[in-house]
Amino acid sequence: RDEVITIPVVVHVVHHAKVPEQNIDDDQIRSQIDVLNRDFRAANPDVSQVPEVWRPLVADARVEFRLAEHDPLGGATDGIVRVETDQDGFDTDDAVKAAATGGADPWPSDQYLNLWVCQLGGGLLGYAQFPGGPPQTDGVVILYTAFGTTGAAAAPYDGGRTATHEIGHWLDLLHIWGDDDGACASDDRVPDTPNQADSNAGTPSFPHVTCDNGPNGDMFMNYMDYVDDRAMFMFTQGQSERMDACLEGARASFVV
Ligand code: ARG
Ligand code: ZN
Ligand code: CA
Repeated sequence: RDEVITIPVVVHVVHHAKVPEQNIDDDQIRSQIDVLNRDFRAANPDVSQVPEVWRPLVADARVEFRLAEHDPLGGATDGIVRVETDQDGFDTDDAVKAAATGGADPWPSDQYLNLWVCQLGGGLLGYAQFPGGPPQTDGVVILYTAFGTTGAAAAPYDGGRTATHEIGHWLDLLHIWGDDDGACASDDRVPDTPNQADSNAGTPSFPHVTCDNGPNGDMFMNYMDYVDDRAMFMFTQGQSERMDACLEGARASFVV
């Protein structure tokens, strides 16, 4: 595929009246869309920090994101829905995805990427639903302080990379270490990312060798690791192919 696919996005800002910061402003939302449009096109300035050996693997995923301009009934919208909640916070039980449980109902998930922005408990930055799940809970949830780059966004998660990572999952990418807790037994089913033992955190220095993956070691600067926002800056060709397969399969409704 040569064409760029544009995904309409609706952002549901679910906020509590007692914590006005949760009602993030439009600029913060736009700053997140801008990050996505750089990261998924390999147009992020920090791509220059990819180690020399992996530069040929850097991928332009040819996916862009635009705040919805039409609501599900065809009316004009800015793609932002603001909902007041009586919940102090949410977790991974999907309560934020339904009005009946203090959240906001999704827009049809075959036509929109639903992003919910809210307070999350337990140090969680965000979570995603993989392709093929129930439409009523499809989309991505992000902590309001880990969304975008301005306003309430707080270091070290103020680079908008939580959404990049979670939308990677939404397009079928697995964690780069294969979620096997250091066993080196399972990987991310992507051939060009090195098999690595476990997640990395913070701002690691290159190389970090695990699972006999020397001399270059873990590709910890990949969006699908767990490092700080400023330490992650690439998808690979293999990951882009996996996202392509998703957009030809489970998420083909976004390809016009
Ligand atoms: N689901 C992951 C978490 O909550 C997201 C990690 C995103 N990493 C980042 N640097 N923004 O921990
Ligand atoms: Zn993840
Ligand atoms: Ca791999």
